Amino acid sequence: MSDRWYKKAVVYCLDIDTFADANGDGIGDIRGLIGRLDYLARLGVTCLWLNPIHPSPDRDDGYDVADFYNVDPRFGTLGDFAELLHQANSLGIKVVIDLVVNHTSDQHPWFQSARSSPDSPYRNWYVWSESAPADRHQGMVFPGEQGETWSYDRTAKAWYYHRFYKFQPDLNIKNPQVRDEIKRICAFWIQLGVAGFRMDAVPFIIEETEPGNPDSPKDLDFLTDLRQYLQWRRGDVVLLAEANVEPDQLVKFFGDAGGSNSRIHMLFDFMLNTKLMLALARQDPEPIIEALRETPKLPAGGQWATFLRNHDEVDLSRLTADQRAQAFEVFGPSPEMQLYGRGIRRRLAPMLGNDRRWIELAYSLQFSLRGTPVLRYGEEIGMGDDLALEGRDAIRTPMQWSHLDHGGFTSGTPVRPVIAEGEFGYHRVNVTEQRHDPKSLLSWFERMIRTLREAPEIGAGTCTHIDVPVPEGVLVHRADDVTGTMLFLHNLCTKDAVVDLSSVYSEAESPNDVLADREYPDLGKFAEVPVAGHGYRWIRLRRCS
Ligand code: NOJ
Ligand code: CA
Repeated sequence: MSDRWYKKAVVYCLDIDTFADANGDGIGDIRGLIGRLDYLARLGVTCLWLNPIHPSPDRDDGYDVADFYNVDPRFGTLGDFAELLHQANSLGIKVVIDLVVNHTSDQHPWFQSARSSPDSPYRNWYVWSESAPADRHQGMVFPGEQGETWSYDRTAKAWYYHRFYKFQPDLNIKNPQVRDEIKRICAFWIQLGVAGFRMDAVPFIIEETEPGNPDSPKDLDFLTDLRQYLQWRRGDVVLLAEANVEPDQLVKFFGDAGGSNSRIHMLFDFMLNTKLMLALARQDPEPIIEALRETPKLPAGGQWATFLRNHDEVDLSRLTADQRAQAFEVFGPSPEMQLYGRGIRRRLAPMLGNDRRWIELAYSLQFSLRGTPVLRYGEEIGMGDDLALEGRDAIRTPMQWSHLDHGGFTSGTPVRPVIAEGEFGYHRVNVTEQRHDPKSLLSWFERMIRTLREAPEIGAGTCTHIDVPVPEGVLVHRADDVTGTMLFLHNLCTKDAVVDLSSVYSEAESPNDVLADREYPDLGKFAEVPVAGHGYRWIRLRRCS
């Protein structure tokens, strides 16, 4: 059995400032999170990914860091953070933090020093150009919110590069001092006890930016170097990276030409995310089958991290224009639901019309397909979004714990309004209510996650589409490892179906449904296996002792 923890992990992603407020100032904090660790343990998650925790002017929800060696005082102290690590550890939960080192905040003392004089020891920590670079209106990540990637700084009397917002100057990876500092930052947090890092914007971190060259070279070997360094500090440290690049580029982020997993352990599977969305919109599994077929083979040790929703918009940019239009039509038809011309700023429950069966189907798909599942806070109770808020804030509203004021998130004035009205308001959607109801979405998530943890084949094994004739809308796949085999049926459309799976019957040893949308009749010889409209079945086919 694989002993790599990240292959069997269930990752839960949260932003401290909107999770739970302990001191009543309206901002979620570390002590609030500590108080909810029991909840997370019961849910069955084994690893937390915390969105940025550092001091920050907070103009990009913490992704604009002003000090890499501290926690935002609004969240607590380093002492509170060490306590969080201790308490989480005693419940068997690992903690991964965001590592945002492509850029800093423009308020970071390094940038303040760098801009103040060409002789500053930090000048060369950033990327400068004496003249206006010809490519300054190219490569923007946030079209509409960001006009350019090079801005003129009057104090510095030079242009500086920023792949993201203007207040996020890029660090200069060509500078060995910057490379050393990134390692030092990681080493510091490892020393405190974090289990790894969610590396932000990796393709941009390794970009050796040349003014005027919109396609500057990338130094992937920095990732090898960083991995080696970290692995020595903590053997089971994990790098989970955001690298939304062309599919043919992906493998390089996992390892170098030697074919081993010498760089990033886990990459978010953006391609599967997009194809899953398209498949759900079309009620047709073909895009998922295509994704499984086209996914590059990973070096041993490499792993996908799957997700349906995260703290950003659903990015549909890798679909064709027609496919994108189709996904928009079903999931984000009005302009206020869309963002940057490529994405949807909604949570999953509202995207799926708050249809409980459809939501279960979608998460059953994500959690049963290959890789390590990542779940965003609030999705387990089916939270909604607040389109009255700006941009991505729509999907960053506080966690809804109970019927109490502000959904029990705070006794003060919340940092962002808690959703109070309508079908997603906290009176109707909250943890306490769902805790009491064995039929709630929360109870379903607990059951589903527990089942996943009994099926290590999913995370550690091989995922294959079973190519047999099936009724429209049905996906059949399997997960195999030395521990055994799991078989999965998902019906993406609303019509009930019956599938002939006699071809796999010979492999079955006391097969049984370990999770399903309802009670199904005995499997017999697999000649007629029913799966209801929007239904799913997780069947343990055999177990190797
Ligand atoms: C990617 C993060 O997911 C996003 O939220 C952030 O705005 C950018 N990186 C910039 O750090
Ligand atoms: Ca607080």
